[in-house]
Amino acid sequence: MAERKPVIITPQQLEEQRAYMNEILNLPQRPRSYYVVTYGCQMNAHDSEILAGMLRDMGMDEAPDRENADFVIFNTCCVRDNAERRALGNVTWLKEVRKRNPNLIIAVCGCMIQQPGMAEKILKQYKFIDLAFGTTNLYKLPELLCRRLNADRAVVEVEDVDTIAEDLPVKRLRRDAAYITIMYGCDNFCSYCIVPYVRGRERSREMEAILAEAQQLKDSGVKEIMLLGQNVNSYGKGLEGNVTFAELLRRLDAMGIPRIRFMTSHPKDLSDELIRVMGESKHILPQFHLPVQAGNDEILHQMNRRYTREQYLNRVRALREAVPGIGLTTDIIVGFPGETEEQFQDTMSLVKEVGYDSAFTFIYSPRTGTKAAAMENQIPEDVATDRIQRLIALQDECQKKAMARFVGMEDEVLVEGLSRRSKTAVSGKGRHGVSITLPGSEADIGEIVRVRVTEIKNNTLMAERT
Ligand code: SAH
Ligand code: SF4
Ligand code: F3S
Repeated sequence: MAERKPVIITPQQLEEQRAYMNEILNLPQRPRSYYVVTYGCQMNAHDSEILAGMLRDMGMDEAPDRENADFVIFNTCCVRDNAERRALGNVTWLKEVRKRNPNLIIAVCGCMIQQPGMAEKILKQYKFIDLAFGTTNLYKLPELLCRRLNADRAVVEVEDVDTIAEDLPVKRLRRDAAYITIMYGCDNFCSYCIVPYVRGRERSREMEAILAEAQQLKDSGVKEIMLLGQNVNSYGKGLEGNVTFAELLRRLDAMGIPRIRFMTSHPKDLSDELIRVMGESKHILPQFHLPVQAGNDEILHQMNRRYTREQYLNRVRALREAVPGIGLTTDIIVGFPGETEEQFQDTMSLVKEVGYDSAFTFIYSPRTGTKAAAMENQIPEDVATDRIQRLIALQDECQKKAMARFVGMEDEVLVEGLSRRSKTAVSGKGRHGVSITLPGSEADIGEIVRVRVTEIKNNTLMAERT
């Protein structure tokens, strides 16, 4: 792939979008309420917060549900086939809602739209979609919506450029915890993965911009920030000066935000320096999401992951040494083309050996345009299903064992909400990323509470307040 330079959206371009917002505010036929439906990963969740921020600034209120909104946006994911089918199914269903509300405007954006040929497909096959845009021109929502409101035909715009847009409006889902995207895109081209094709080349935000956003969040009382990127470990590539993720973490740690987390980390780029910073830090939480994908060297090679099982295990050991008791989680794919039962057993043995706190397990899903989709020996669905069931059963067992280390431990919980099982209990995440339930009430939501873990009940950590 040719070198591409990131395109920084200028203040003047953002000013233009502001002008479109104002134009919309003056249109009599403008939508008054919106609803954003989000699929996919945290990046998409944060993009949806930005969409909501722009819609708020265009005078719209959030509707209670999608049936009662004037403007519905689907922010889509295409990482696996089922994500895509779910999104399209739901969009099509809205056609019925349109019959009751003829003024309903339906928009679709996100990764699915960024796939080659998708814009043409929407114009031809999904004529009821009013507005479609990709991941890199999200900041243009005001302009695109304005065009749609002024002309009675679909507006579809997808751009194949790698943009970075700073200072966009944002309406955050939570007051106590916030996402900060630190980098966009991905250059790794794992052979099964569509993300590099739909999120463009890897590019990092300037460190000063990230620090300023973090400071602002801290000043507004945010207690936890989550740094986002497809491969946060390679943050800084292409920026001037010797900027690294470890350095960014050190600077953020010094700011005094109570809790700092990040995802996702690629094992091949996990440096000793980063592990050291984690060990020395005050506020970086003792947790690490380190997707392994497979436990067999040949499969890892075919996946283009660029590490071996042993190198991965070495990183796990280094993390555990620097941060004792660290919470480890992972992503695993079963049924990659050509995966034999024996190779699958290597994944099983790795899961046992590491003892993850949790694992996200997926059946390999061929994605058009990726290298693996063209590979021979695609695995039959029943074989892959059987493998994932065995993997999930094993992980459940390992998880139970891993949880035992928390009993008796002192911890801090950022309370997220009332417990589902009891009205006098609340739950949230401990410092290791594991859910903990404790006695409490609505007043605790958004607060950090000190606890001691007392027991494991129904696979959940139960704690008392200290
Ligand atoms: N950038 C992150 C995660 C990206 S997508 C990383 O490198 O880990 C999240 C997870 O989806 C991946 O870790 C992988 O396990 C899974 N995934 C990606 N493409 C997939 C595919 N084609 N089929 C099944 N699972 C897939
Ligand atoms: Fe996909 Fe690999 Fe990039 Fe993750 S690192 S987004 S799995 S290509
Ligand atoms: Fe899906 Fe796009 Fe995230 S494909 S997983 S929403 S980067």
